[in-house]
Amino acid sequence: MKFKKKILCIGAGYVGGPSMAMIAHKCPDYRVTVVDINSERIDAWNSPHLPVYEPGLDKIVKQCRGKNLFFSKDIENQIKENDLIFVSVNTPTKTYGAGADMAADLQYLEKTARQILKYSHSSKIVIEKSTLPVKTALTMEKILSSAKGKIKFEVLSNPEFMAEGSAMNDLENPDRVLIGSRETKSGLKARARLVEIYARWVPLKKIITSNIWSSELSKLVANAFLAQRVSSINSISALCEKTDADIVEVAKAVGLDSRIGDKFLRAGVGFGGSCFKKDIFNLVYLCHYYGLREVASYWENIIKINQYQQDRFIANILHAMFGTLAGKKICILGFAFKADTSDTRESPAIYISQKLLTEQAELTISDPRALKNAAIDLAGVKGKITYIDDPYKAAAGCHALLILTDWEMYRTLDYRKLYRSMVKPAFLFDGRNIVDYQKCHAIGFNIYPIGRKALTHF
Ligand code: NAD
Ligand code: UGA
Repeated sequence: MKFKKKILCIGAGYVGGPSMAMIAHKCPDYRVTVVDINSERIDAWNSPHLPVYEPGLDKIVKQCRGKNLFFSKDIENQIKENDLIFVSVNTPTKTYGAGADMAADLQYLEKTARQILKYSHSSKIVIEKSTLPVKTALTMEKILSSAKGKIKFEVLSNPEFMAEGSAMNDLENPDRVLIGSRETKSGLKARARLVEIYARWVPLKKIITSNIWSSELSKLVANAFLAQRVSSINSISALCEKTDADIVEVAKAVGLDSRIGDKFLRAGVGFGGSCFKKDIFNLVYLCHYYGLREVASYWENIIKINQYQQDRFIANILHAMFGTLAGKKICILGFAFKADTSDTRESPAIYISQKLLTEQAELTISDPRALKNAAIDLAGVKGKITYIDDPYKAAAGCHALLILTDWEMYRTLDYRKLYRSMVKPAFLFDGRNIVDYQKCHAIGFNIYPIGRKALTHF
């Protein structure tokens, strides 16, 4: 079949895989290829067991794979063959040298730019999909403009706003698609080519364009604002616990103001995921770089509150369980950083588990999707840990249950059955406020929700 457009994505991760699958699904006359340096990942994309769990993803990949969606290890030839190249490589926080623990580590992005430069025999449009510090396109341009002869590269910014767990729906019905470009003739032409792709399924009024720096910065700011709401509500949950106010009632009352809105006001054990913390640090680093100390410290506090919330949760457990966890069995329900994903990157469950093990608690960990990643995250951590799929088996014989992920199934567990199998007095720490806490109290649990009065039998 002759394809109308050929698209390449470099980076077959949580963003590259699902976002390209959506383009392939919506544009059957486009040929979409995704490449990665990680050959195991490519093998997994080509197997029945995809490397990323995302509701709805399997179906689309199975429909399109081998028809107009391909996963390949041949980076060199794919760069040669395609003239629209998305870059969706990882941009983690730097762990070494200048800017360690704060700046974005742009080595993968730079290597990708150099690969594109090396293997290109014709002009191309390179689209930043990764989340990047503002002005990164300039670095890309500098590297790519060293190409010899007539080859020209146009760099666009097209940040991805999908969230894990709801990625397919977010990609199909985005609030907006943002495309930033240089405001030159060739920049605007390249931008129009990208608009054309999204316009296949996204209403034009939702495809917004801007200058390239606004686009790069908007992505960092969007994540910072979302994380700020979570830290704001979590900070108030601490005040609720001191004053007998109820965080769920407060969030409802505040969120009903249409100027504030009700989303992202769920108090919990703190935000996790690979992006919020890294992107805020990225923003903080940029502010320092430009000498904006006050602005940097304003955004940094969001991360401090997130850490505080996790420490507070652990302190509450220790206090409630008579000051010692040594030799006590604790069952962790949920290890993923949020529901509907197997992703555990920066999950609060990692830090909380480590702290509980330091207190010499014994852990049984249960999660419907993330146990494999949990075992990798806690490999080498000293202490006794057992991984059990079935929540009922995991809870049996434990002194306490901790709900750390908002999986729907945890709302509807048979808490009476769980209670019966546990050591008494049985404790339930609901780190996501998802159980009917009055009912659980009536069953016999000593229950400690977040930002609401604890109900005990003491
Ligand atoms: P990821 O780690 O899952 O995937 C990145 C992939 O890029 C890896 O498989 C890696 O092997 C590959 N890679 C790195 N260097 C390469 C190279 N030179 N050539 C080919 N492949 C290379 O990361 P992710 O979660 O998909 O995130 C990618 C970017 O998108 C990040 O900047 C992130 O901030 C941003 N983002 C992520 C999400 C999300 O939900 N995970 C959402 C929006 C934006
Ligand atoms: C987030 C953003 O929502 C996406 O728009 C963005 O594209 C993505 O980061 C990214 O750049 O990687 P994601 O991290 O996948 O998406 O998931 P969220 O739904 O934002 O949840 C992040 C964390 O906040 C989770 O740990 C979640 O449990 C927590 N959260 C969220 C709360 O504790 N309370 C809330 O009310 C909402």
